Amino acid sequence: MVGAVAGSFFDEPEEQSLVKADIVVSYFDAWSRIMVKRAERIGYFDFYAGPGRYAAGRRSTPLLIMERAIASNDLSSRLVTIFNDANPDYTSSLESEIKGLAGIERLKYQPQVVTGEVNDDLAQQFEEIKTIPSLSFVDPWGYRGLSLRLIRAVIKDWGCEVIFFFNYNRINMGINNNLVEPHMQALLGQQRLKEVRADMASLRPDARESRLMRATGEALEEMGAPYLIPFRFRRREGRVSHYICFVTKHPLGYSIMKEIMASRGVVDDDAVPRFEYMPRTAGMQLAFDRPRPIVALPQQLCAAFVGQTLTLKEVYARHNVGTPFIKRNYKKVLIEMERARQIACDPNYDSRKPGTIADHVLVTFP
Ligand SMILES: C[S@@+](CC[C@H](N)C(=O)[O-])C[C@H]1O[C@@H](n2cnc3c(N)ncnc32)[C@H](O)[C@@H]1O
Repeated sequence: MVGAVAGSFFDEPEEQSLVKADIVVSYFDAWSRIMVKRAERIGYFDFYAGPGRYAAGRRSTPLLIMERAIASNDLSSRLVTIFNDANPDYTSSLESEIKGLAGIERLKYQPQVVTGEVNDDLAQQFEEIKTIPSLSFVDPWGYRGLSLRLIRAVIKDWGCEVIFFFNYNRINMGINNNLVEPHMQALLGQQRLKEVRADMASLRPDARESRLMRATGEALEEMGAPYLIPFRFRRREGRVSHYICFVTKHPLGYSIMKEIMASRGVVDDDAVPRFEYMPRTAGMQLAFDRPRPIVALPQQLCAAFVGQTLTLKEVYARHNVGTPFIKRNYKKVLIEMERARQIACDPNYDSRKPGTIADHVLVTFP
């Protein structure tokens, strides 16, 4: 295939790359269905687009997105796309791949394929314009170009969200490396990097991981991104390789992506998603010795909603952010709590279809 270098990332789509593409494209589907009803134009911006196909011929995200645009009347008249990559061979390959898509001429806005380095200048360009509602995909191999500034710039306007690749393995190695300090500062900010460096030296690997990810979450929150979902990828031998992170300012986007990511990763013994993909075990249950977050959920709910009556939908919306729980987990726990007479439901268990609790059911906490 044109543009794909032998022995490179694009040689074969690794399982992880397929899961990543599936998450991005599934979210794009859900997000764009909502957004086309609310805006004249919507955008999909891919800053590290690659050549469009893996060497084995399988289509990667840019082509999958364009196929959806062509297949939908709403999208073909509204979607504006920009695909950038630093490698001119890749952009020229992508351009000819896109031109070769059947029906591409139907699009009102032809895709813009751009060759350029992602850097502060690009962030500045986005800072200076008002962006249409857009989903941005920032998918570097390492950390070059990935910065808080870029993320802030691409999500600053209404309806703007971003999915970015966080190369945990490389960033973990870079934290204490003075040669890449500007890149680490761009990710965490100067002061936070200093604090992380001071803490990390004495930490064991898993504690290093949570320290670094906590710092990243705090840095994003501080710059105005209240909702973050990190989805972790492990290698076959179990070591963490990277994360796909989703950042939004809106709870609806958060809950949609939460369900998508939850269904692509492993779940624990209680069917609580771990937002984590492990080769060969995806969708299967984890070992018994893991902590079971669901055990604490009844108590957390009673404490959060003491004396209140809310619909199940409200309980979920008000409690789920920052937890691993998806709606199914709340339903299961609330049914068990009702049966144990810890809460009262209206309509009550006997008046509902066995084993179910709908969104509108009223739940009263003591
Ligand atoms: C992981 S690949 C992207 C894969 C692509 N998103 C997909 O789904 O097929 C990373 C890409 O980043 C490009 N790249 C590396 N450094 C870059 C930079 N500073 N600016 C823009 N692109 C860069 C590489 O040429 C490569 O195509």
